Amino acid sequence: MGTLLSEARPPANSLASMGIDVAGSTFGIHTETTSYVFGLTGEGLLRHLHWGGRIELCDVIVEPLWELSTNDLIQDVTPQEYPGHGRFRYNEHCLAIMFSDGGRELDLRYAGHDLGAALVVHLRDDRGVRVDLHYEVLESIDVIRRWVVVYADVPVSVQAVASAQFHIPYRDLDLRNVAGRWGAEFQEIVQPVTSKVVLESRRGISNHHHNPYAVLSRQATETSGQVWGMALAFSGNTKTVVEQTQYGQTLVQLGINDADLAIALNAGDSFTAPAVVATYTPHGFDALSQNLHDYGRSLMEPTPRPVLYNSWEATNFAVTCDAQIALAHRAAQIGAELFVVDDGWFGRRNPEPTGGITDGLGDWWVDPAKFPDGLTPLIDEVHQLGMTFGIWVEPEMVNPGSDLYAAHPDWIYHEQGREPDTARGQYVLNLTLAPVQEFITQMLDDLLAENVIGYVKWDANRPMSQVGAGRDVWYRHVQALYDIVREVKRRHPGVLFEACASGGGRIDFGALNVFDDFWTSDNTDALDRLDIHRGYSLVYPPQAMRAWVTDVPNFLSQRSIALTFRFHSAMTGSLGIGCDLTAMSDEDLRASAKHVQQYEQLRPLMQRWHRLENPSSNDYRLIQYSSPAGAVLFVFLPASRLGHTSTTVRLRGLEPTGRYRFELDWQTHVARGDYLMNRGVRVWLQGDYASTVIRFDRVDDEGAV
Ligand code: GLA
Repeated sequence: MGTLLSEARPPANSLASMGIDVAGSTFGIHTETTSYVFGLTGEGLLRHLHWGGRIELCDVIVEPLWELSTNDLIQDVTPQEYPGHGRFRYNEHCLAIMFSDGGRELDLRYAGHDLGAALVVHLRDDRGVRVDLHYEVLESIDVIRRWVVVYADVPVSVQAVASAQFHIPYRDLDLRNVAGRWGAEFQEIVQPVTSKVVLESRRGISNHHHNPYAVLSRQATETSGQVWGMALAFSGNTKTVVEQTQYGQTLVQLGINDADLAIALNAGDSFTAPAVVATYTPHGFDALSQNLHDYGRSLMEPTPRPVLYNSWEATNFAVTCDAQIALAHRAAQIGAELFVVDDGWFGRRNPEPTGGITDGLGDWWVDPAKFPDGLTPLIDEVHQLGMTFGIWVEPEMVNPGSDLYAAHPDWIYHEQGREPDTARGQYVLNLTLAPVQEFITQMLDDLLAENVIGYVKWDANRPMSQVGAGRDVWYRHVQALYDIVREVKRRHPGVLFEACASGGGRIDFGALNVFDDFWTSDNTDALDRLDIHRGYSLVYPPQAMRAWVTDVPNFLSQRSIALTFRFHSAMTGSLGIGCDLTAMSDEDLRASAKHVQQYEQLRPLMQRWHRLENPSSNDYRLIQYSSPAGAVLFVFLPASRLGHTSTTVRLRGLEPTGRYRFELDWQTHVARGDYLMNRGVRVWLQGDYASTVIRFDRVDDEGAV
C-alpha cells in the first residue's frame, strides 16, 4: 500500500535543519529557542519529558514515575509519546489495530532509532506491527514537525491512527480554536480545559466548524505568556483531543478522525499519517502566529498574490462572454491584476428557470450559448488589458442532470440500494476510483493546455456522505485530491490554485501544501470579515487569505458599509474585488482605483500580521503589519458610540532604534520604533464605518520633523 498521506516533504524554502541530539536514552529536539525532550523508560515506553524553553540534555532530571494505585498503572501514568491501545492505557491512545484473529492488544516498545535529516524512533509490537515516529526541526522558526509511519508485518486493520500526542505539564490551560458555519467561519473560541474536549470534522473536508489545531495557553495575552500550538496538515476528517489528565497534565492529540475509519494493511504494507506542525513560545499569541505564519509561508510561492477580480457576486450563473468582457474592462481600469470567471461558464449551468444548480457540474465543456467562440476571445481581451486569466471549477462534484453522470452513474459515492444524497443539487465523485482521478486530471490538463489560464479556483460545495463500505475512503479521497492538484501543477507550472469549499471549508496546512490561496468565507460583509480574518490569523498566514470588496447592501448582512471601509477590510488580506463594476458609479470606480493603487504600494510592507487589540475591549479594530522596511496600520471604527474618543495604538514588530516616517492628522512625523511601540500614536476616527490606513516607512537617515 505504502500510502504517503501528506506532508512528509520538506518546506519549499528549506527551513529544515538538524537541531537534534541524543544522550543515552534521552532525545532532544531543539529549535533556536525551544526544546522538546523525551526518553526511554525501564518498561520500554517513550516518556515525554519537556516541551518549552530551550534546555540542555545533560541537565535533564528524570524523576521517578510511580504506579499510584492499582488503578493508576504505568501505561496510563506515563505521558507517552505514542501510546497504543491496550494493556493499562485508558487515557487517549494514538494507535488502535485489529489483528486477523480479532485481537486488539498492542504493546509498542522502543526498538531503536536513526538520526538523519530527521530523528526516527522505532517502536515495535511482537505481533507484527511497527511504528516509526518522525521528528523534524525547523530551527529558525521554532517549529517542529512530527509524523508517523505504521508498518504491518502481518495483515491488520488500523482502526485509529493519530499523528502525534503532546503533553503539557500544567492543568490550568485555556484552549483556543474557532467555531463557525457557512458564512460565519473562524469565530474565535476560548475555553478553560477542565476535562476532555474533542474538536473534529466528520464531513470529508476540513469543515466550517472547527479547524484542525489546538492552541493552549497559560494566562497569555497577545504579547506575553506561555503558548503551545499544534496543527494537523490534513484536509479531511480530523480529530483533535485535549484532555486534562488526572495526573495534573494536559494531553493533546491530533490526527485523522477515527470515526468510521478502518484501514486494511496487508503484510508488507505501510501507512503514513499526515504531519503535525508544533510550536512553543513564552511570548504570547502574536509570537505563536509569527511562527506558524512563517511555517505556512515556507510552503508558499513567495511572490504576492495578484489583486483579483472575481465575477461571482456580479453575475452568479448568468455568465456571458460580452458581460465578462465588460467586467474585465472595468476590472483593469481599477487596477486588478487577475480576472477570474467564476461558476457558470460550462455545461448547462444556467440561472433559474432554464437551469440552475442541478446541472452542469461534470460537463466541463465551454457553454457555446454563452461563449460561441470558446473562452479565447475573453482570455485574449483579459490579457490585452494586462491581467492574468483565472477560472472556477468544482472537479470533485457532478450534477444529476449532467452528461457525465448519465455516462457514469457509478462514479459517485452512494450505498447500493439507497437513493444517492444530493446537497446543492449535486453528488460527490468517488475520487478513490482510478478512472475518476484520470478524468479530473485530464479535464484540468486539457482546460489549461487549450487556454492560457494562470489561476484556478477549486471549489467543493458540499460534504461527503454515503461513502459506502470502504471505511478508508475518508483519507483516500483527500490523498487523491492532493495527488491530482500536484499532478496538474506539475504539468502546468506557475498556475496558482485557490482552495474554496463553500467559502472557508477547506483551510489547513495540508491544503496549504498544495493550494496557493484560500477563499476564507462567502460572507463578504466588511465588518463580519474583520472577525473572520482575526480567527483565521491565529494559525494561517494572511498572504494566503483572499478577501473581496463587494456591493452593498451586502447579500448576507443587508448592511451598507462605506466603500473605503470595505476596501480597508479586504486590504488586510490578499485584495480582491467582487463588485458588479458595470453598475458602479464613476466616482466609486475612481475611488476603487485609488485604493487598489494604495494597496499595491503598501503590499511590500505587509509581511507580519499583528492583532493589536482585543475587539471586545475597544470600539476600534486594529490590525497591523510589520516588515523590515516599515509597517502598515489599519484602524476601523465600526460604530461611533457614546460620543467619540481617540484610541492609543502601540505598534509591534518595529526595530526599536529604527526611525519611521508617517503621516498623522495631516502632518508628517518621524519617530523611533521604541516610541511607536512603547508610547504609540493617538488615532481618532468619527462616524460609523470609519477607517483609515497609516503607512510607516523606515527612514533611518532622516531626523525628526
Ligand atoms: C461557492 C463559493 C463562491 C462561488 C460559488 C459558485 O459558494 O464559495 O465563492 O464560487 O460557490 O457556485
